[in-house]
Amino acid sequence: MSATPPRPPTVAPSLLAADFGRAAEEVAAVEAAGADWLHLDVMDGHFVPNLSFGPQMIKALRPRSRLPFDVHLMIAPVDPFLHAFAEAGAEHIHLHIEAGPHAHRSMQLVRSLGVKAGIALNPATPAEAVSAVMDVADLILVMTVNPGFGGQSFLLSQLDKIARLRRMADATGREIPIIVDGGIDPHTAALSVAAGADTLVAGTSVFGQPDYAAAIAALRGASGAGPRAAGPSRDAA
Ligand code: DX5
Ligand code: ZN
Repeated sequence: MSATPPRPPTVAPSLLAADFGRAAEEVAAVEAAGADWLHLDVMDGHFVPNLSFGPQMIKALRPRSRLPFDVHLMIAPVDPFLHAFAEAGAEHIHLHIEAGPHAHRSMQLVRSLGVKAGIALNPATPAEAVSAVMDVADLILVMTVNPGFGGQSFLLSQLDKIARLRRMADATGREIPIIVDGGIDPHTAALSVAAGADTLVAGTSVFGQPDYAAAIAALRGASGAGPRAAGPSRDAA
């Protein structure tokens, strides 16, 4: 179906599962272990029922790493803070389609700041909800758990949505990464890649493991680098 040649998925460890007291060392460790991007989860205690960190943390880590910073905003509103996250050194900023009535405008603003704009979807949100922002989307982030906490179980119900979003992304004629976030381990990574995802965010299954390099390699290899299937795997159990 897809003409995309099989290539290993991008792996983005999520700092949320790291030891915050040693944040810079943790980032250096996953960079040395082969991470492609660093995923940074920003939570406001309002859009999601948890707090994490803001732009100051990102700004402090920026000079300590060469990894692209993939910033996931779980905040509402988003617009008043976009400049601060761009200035802090984000390469990508994901905002949630559920975070406000003007996602399209917010994504235009992200792009105007020289940052790639990502659109994130909660598990209860259908793929079609982002069809009208595809023209300004550089990335799509599919939440495969309800956002707010690390260490939750992957929701198999999201596999169909991943496949749908892959088709929508391919229809634009642009290369739009489909990122999965939440409950990703080598098994769920393989299911996600088979459904059409190409980028894996992983907190617990990287920072919760003793050997970061082995953990990242296990995720990257989990897909078997086989060709992308047209739809989700049906033998998921
Ligand atoms: C959850 C965050 C995730 C989280 C994933 O709201 O968006 O990025 O860090 O953690 P794991 O991989 O442990 O499910
Ligand atoms: Zn995230």
